[in-house]
Amino acid sequence: MGLLFSREGRSGFSRGSTAEEVTAGIDGHGLVAIITGASSGIGLETARVMALRGVHIIIAVRNVSAGLAAKEAIVAKIPGARVSVLELDLSCMASVRRFAAEFESLNLPLNILINNAGVITKDCTPSHDGLELHFATNHIGHFLLTNLLLENMKRTCKEGGVEGRIVNVSSMAHLLSYPSGICFSKIRNPSGSNTFKGFMAYCQSKLANILHSSELSRILKDEGINISANAVHPGVIVTKNSKNMPIVHALMVSFGRIFGRSIEQGAATTCYVSMHPQVKGISGKFFDNCNIAKPSSKASDAELAKKLWQFSLHTVSS
Ligand SMILES: *[C@@H]1O[C@H](CO)[C@@H](O)[C@H](O)[C@H]1NC(C)=O
Ligand SMILES: *[C@@H]1O[C@H](CO)[C@@H](O)[C@H](O)[C@H]1NC(C)=O
Ligand SMILES: *[C@@H]1O[C@H](CO)[C@@H](O)[C@H](O)[C@H]1NC(C)=O
Repeated sequence: MGLLFSREGRSGFSRGSTAEEVTAGIDGHGLVAIITGASSGIGLETARVMALRGVHIIIAVRNVSAGLAAKEAIVAKIPGARVSVLELDLSCMASVRRFAAEFESLNLPLNILINNAGVITKDCTPSHDGLELHFATNHIGHFLLTNLLLENMKRTCKEGGVEGRIVNVSSMAHLLSYPSGICFSKIRNPSGSNTFKGFMAYCQSKLANILHSSELSRILKDEGINISANAVHPGVIVTKNSKNMPIVHALMVSFGRIFGRSIEQGAATTCYVSMHPQVKGISGKFFDNCNIAKPSSKASDAELAKKLWQFSLHTVSS
């Protein structure tokens, strides 16, 4: 069934490629990667495959016991895998700061940061800091995290001479168009059902990730730092996340039947962009099916990206 869509792109990989296939032969020993939300689904598979290639993985999760279970599952399959678990609640800025401090205290370098965690809920719950929950977790939390870890990444890159990579996982961002544009901290969609509102808010916060990638990549380029920042689309697949939203879940299950990929395929683009030598020097791009793709026109709006960056800076510093 997937064959219809499995034409290979320029990278030589396609939507049918698995994470193990796209990293075959790549040696990740000596590299350290932080992966947010890596205790289940695509995040866990990403962690497993990168650990298989020798990368020291830091699983950053809200639920530490789930993180430890994920670690056990990885180590059981890959004896000698280096996996650590640290607590991180992206919806709470204080937790993000604690995480960054705790990571610093380990005295590890940082080569790869994978902003993978995302929430999707049907309520308009405010976050710990009073922001709309999707925006807080999917964008502001990762924004702050990235900024706090950047010094270490720069240092690592300078000392090791290896390019640093920041990867944003932006699931579903291009499935919908965004009639209301970005709503920064409130959901403004009076006509929609709660579920739809939740879905829109999720998409918008993920769009914020793409916009942010392009702005961050521009800043790093301007500073002459060899750290790339790219966004990836892992594909529509059903993960634990969507179970909070029955309609979206049903939608994803049916999309999944037609267009979907397995978890092993869903993790492929993230692993490819995080580790593959072909991606060296490429930054500010949006990847789908292990190839450079075009995001929606709003997502490539540089002006919007700059505004979002400034709004985010203001939010984390106020
Ligand atoms: C945390 O993870 C454990 C182990 O997977 C699970 O049993 C527990 O219900 C989770 N707690 C929360 C609050 O999700
Ligand atoms: C990913 O998204 C977060 C939140 O939008 C942002 O802070 C971070 O800089 C982005 N990373 C990349 C690689 O663009
Ligand atoms: C960045 O990479 C380029 C090309 O590989 C290299 O010439 C340059 O010295 C690197 N810059 C830093 C700061 O490492």
